[in-house]
Amino acid sequence: MTSGHGQLRWPAAQGLAAAVFLLASIVQAVDKDKSYTIIGGGGTALRDFVSDAVGNATQDANYKGLYLPFYTVGTGAGQQSFLNNTFQYAIGDFPLSKKDFESAERPILQIPISFGPVVIVANLTPEFHASSSLQLSAPVTAAIFQGNITTWDDPAILAINPNLTKLQPPIPAGTKIKVVGRSDSNAAAYAFSQWLAQAGNGTWALGVNKTLPTGPGVKVVIGGGNVTNYLLSTPFSIGYTDAYAAKKAKLPDAALRNEAGKFVRYSKADWTFPGINVSIPAATADWSKFNLTNLPGDKTYPVVTTSILVTNNDLTGRETRGAAQKAVFGYLLGPSVQGAATSYQQYPLNDKFLNASLTAVNSIRVVDSKDFFQSNQLPKLGAPYNINFQYS
Ligand SMILES: *[C@@H]1O[C@H](CO)[C@@H](O)[C@H](O)[C@H]1NC(C)=O
Ligand SMILES: *[C@@H]1O[C@H](CO)[C@@H](O)[C@H](O)[C@H]1NC(C)=O
Ligand SMILES: *[C@@H]1O[C@H](CO)[C@@H](O)[C@H](O)[C@H]1NC(C)=O
Ligand SMILES: *[C@@H]1O[C@H](CO)[C@@H](O)[C@H](O)[C@H]1NC(C)=O
Ligand SMILES: *[C@@H]1O[C@H](CO)[C@@H](O)[C@H](O)[C@H]1NC(C)=O
Ligand SMILES: *[C@@H]1O[C@H](CO)[C@@H](O)[C@H](O)[C@H]1NC(C)=O
Ligand SMILES: *[C@@H]1O[C@H](CO)[C@@H](O)[C@H](O)[C@H]1NC(C)=O
Ligand SMILES: *[C@@H]1O[C@H](CO)[C@@H](O)[C@H](O)[C@H]1NC(C)=O
Ligand SMILES: *[C@@H]1O[C@H](CO)[C@@H](O)[C@H](O)[C@H]1NC(C)=O
Ligand SMILES: *[C@@H]1O[C@H](CO)[C@@H](O)[C@H](O)[C@H]1NC(C)=O
Repeated sequence: MTSGHGQLRWPAAQGLAAAVFLLASIVQAVDKDKSYTIIGGGGTALRDFVSDAVGNATQDANYKGLYLPFYTVGTGAGQQSFLNNTFQYAIGDFPLSKKDFESAERPILQIPISFGPVVIVANLTPEFHASSSLQLSAPVTAAIFQGNITTWDDPAILAINPNLTKLQPPIPAGTKIKVVGRSDSNAAAYAFSQWLAQAGNGTWALGVNKTLPTGPGVKVVIGGGNVTNYLLSTPFSIGYTDAYAAKKAKLPDAALRNEAGKFVRYSKADWTFPGINVSIPAATADWSKFNLTNLPGDKTYPVVTTSILVTNNDLTGRETRGAAQKAVFGYLLGPSVQGAATSYQQYPLNDKFLNASLTAVNSIRVVDSKDFFQSNQLPKLGAPYNINFQYS
């Protein structure tokens, strides 16, 4: 969608060193053009969403002259590059760890921009997927991924999937479950293991981890692309990934049993979290414990990442570029990007989060306070923003 916009999509596999080398020359080139370059980077699951969002910003009359490369190096690497001042901001699908937060040595803000489901995907028969979705609870999922349950006709699976017993042709008795896991750090593993730890009724033995250990007999791969490739090419396999990757690969996601005992697919969930009182940390606080895992509510999907922007609080040293950066963050929270989120299998912030995030963006210090949210007024929720940043 942005391929004409001069946006960069950096393949996750390539080294950041190369990216930084390339950037040095880009920065020089755009300086000569008197454009404003603001470098960001982060999570690979957010590559298309954020790249398209900042790409669209540069097409908006309010942001003419900005150059906004976003490098999808992974959430952790993006955060490190923000902390060492290579990137001006990072956007990823988990918050800074306590250690990284404390290492910042300057005022920083963590600001949610969207919610992202993590899905469990199984490759069963076309007959099954034509009419049914797999249903999984946290204890059954834990047992499958730890190797306590090894066949698709295990009574614990059939008990919550009556359609499997009625299937014509049936899945042969004793068909092995082919579990795929990832050995590299990833946000999906983190959210997935949080769910199993919180909702697994004490059965999950592998801990909460971004680099998740795997049970016996698990096929271990590196990278989300290898997970979806394995699932696509291996009948009777199961794995977890971000919803966007699963959707792109046309892999059917399971309905997960939520805290209220209902089986819910993410696309049928209510992402406004009605009636649920989530406490949102201050933007200046440590977010390392923050998560939306296994929240109550009949229509709540239980395995969720939050896309979190990390930025410096004080951008006065960057002069007009700082003001432009603040304005771009306003754009990410504005109706255009929030309204586009679902087409990337991300969900827009509900009013409470949106208000908190706008308040946080509004608190960013820039030299020219006229540049954004004049007179320190928050824009009305849901209203189009009058963004006053003008590059000239
Ligand atoms: C970017 O703009 C295109 C074209 O209007 C739109 O289809 C897409 O959803 C937008 N994406 C984001 C993230 O704003
Ligand atoms: C900043 O951190 C990134 C990611 O860890 C690393 O690749 C890069 O070399 C670091 N740059 C500096 C200047 O320390
Ligand atoms: C079970 O199959 C019936 C139709 O055969 C379908 O209507 C129903 O949605 C299926 N249940 C699940 C959980 O997919
Ligand atoms: C399930 O598997 C885990 C790890 O492989 C093991 O520690 C645990 O004892 C098993 N639980 C049961 C009930 O078999
Ligand atoms: C949770 O575990 C306990 C003890 O093993 C068991 O008695 C109970 O039935 C389990 N509850 C659920 C909902 O699985
Ligand atoms: C996370 O898993 C790795 C191995 O995959 C292990 O070395 C590390 O101790 C684990 N961390 C936690 C907090 O369990
Ligand atoms: C898939 O795995 C291979 C072998 O481990 C690795 O070289 C490759 O980079 C991986 N692909 C992705 C997309 O991570
Ligand atoms: C929501 O939670 C906060 C902090 O946990 C609490 O102070 C507040 O009273 C709660 N609000 C409602 C409506 O339950
Ligand atoms: C997730 O949030 C819950 C509720 O606030 C908390 O108890 C839990 O420790 C958090 N999990 C992690 C891994 O931080
Ligand atoms: C929005 O945030 C401001 C500042 O934190 C707060 O005073 C106000 O009550 C919030 N409004 C809503 C609708 O949550």
